[in-house]
Amino acid sequence: MRVEPTRRLVGHLAVPGDKSISHRSVLLGALCDGETRVRGFGRSADTEATIAAVRALGAGVEEIGDDTLRIDGVGLRGLVAPDAPIDCANAGTLVRLLAGLLAGQAGQRFELTGDASLSARPMRRVTEPLGRMGAALETDDGHLPMVIEGRPLQGIAYELPVASAQVKSAILLAGLYAEGETTVVEPVPTRDHTELMLEAAGARIVRRPTSVTVWPAERLELGEIEVPGDFSSAAPFVVAASLVPGSELHLHGVNLNPRRTGLLEILARMGANVTVYNRRRIAGEPAGDLEVRSAQLVATTVTAKDVPLAIDELPLFALAASCAHGDSVLRGAEELRAKESDRIEATADALRSVGQHVRATADGFRIRGVPARPRGGRIESRGDHRIAMLGAVAALGSQQGIEIDGAECVAVSFPGFFELVQRLVETAERQER
Ligand code: S3P
Repeated sequence: MRVEPTRRLVGHLAVPGDKSISHRSVLLGALCDGETRVRGFGRSADTEATIAAVRALGAGVEEIGDDTLRIDGVGLRGLVAPDAPIDCANAGTLVRLLAGLLAGQAGQRFELTGDASLSARPMRRVTEPLGRMGAALETDDGHLPMVIEGRPLQGIAYELPVASAQVKSAILLAGLYAEGETTVVEPVPTRDHTELMLEAAGARIVRRPTSVTVWPAERLELGEIEVPGDFSSAAPFVVAASLVPGSELHLHGVNLNPRRTGLLEILARMGANVTVYNRRRIAGEPAGDLEVRSAQLVATTVTAKDVPLAIDELPLFALAASCAHGDSVLRGAEELRAKESDRIEATADALRSVGQHVRATADGFRIRGVPARPRGGRIESRGDHRIAMLGAVAALGSQQGIEIDGAECVAVSFPGFFELVQRLVETAERQER
């Protein structure tokens, strides 16, 4: 895939439904009593894997049009183990949340598998706490395939060794089936979509600034969910419009949960020109519209407490910083090495290969900002959707355009991404003529 530079980015767009919330709506919808209707579902390879998984477990999912689902839940105790392994494909959120809810299916045995990338990612972070709660879980030395024997569970108080919403969510879902209360303590706050949705479904849950407690549930009921646009899918366009001079881009209906929008805080420190308007709530989540105008950015330092709030956007931060005045640093982000690729190495390699000055460190980047357009060249996605999108954003602001190897992996989170990029480039061209 080749992406050419654009003169500017103008116009209005909406991005697909939030991936994290879409996964959760299907998983919790399957556990509800009766019907859940999901509107604005973010359809992608990852979330399709979640639909396939709950179908394999006996829930009904009817797809009404492109982004509406009707889920026929089987109730908290109605899942039935399939004969074959459940394929979680590339989806870390699916495998980890599913492990949590299957741990409580007493007397049943499940096997979870995934693609090569998912099979290389760490699973002990979920098997360890779920094992403590009483489930029997086996992995291949901390990796998939994972075999889960559901057992009667005991509530625990667990301090997360890594700041991970996936691990927190797995424990909370298991807590729905445990005796007594289950508390998860977070070193720093992470995304709270599971807590918000459990609350909406009627579970008893108490949230404190650094911990959350859940009690066993009898029944869940969601009714209707409207999924707001995915901030992580909006972020590439926010950074592109910030970097390409003369841009004025509007993004509508974006999830603005503060546990997701750390990139906006970071960009604000860098002098970006982003305005939020039409603030509203969508499915109990803060949401709104964004207006992004280009700006000359300045360097900043990003540290561990900022990391979970911008975890999937840190490659984009590295690009923005590489085009800013001054030297930027990212620290405390060693978790990036455990994503769909080693995102510290993949980002540094990708940006260096198009002329930027980004050095990988053990837990982040050192970035020398040069306030000029990236040269351009060729970027290798390493099969990682966020790196492929990073390449496209760099290309839009580049001098010579960028060839992205392995660009098709954007389908993991955002199948229409390149069509949207193309549409924006054509809009700018039409306005030039
Ligand atoms: C997610 C949590 C984060 C994030 C991932 C989605 C979620 O992962 O990187 O893209 O939906 O809970 P970790 O929990 O591993 O940090």
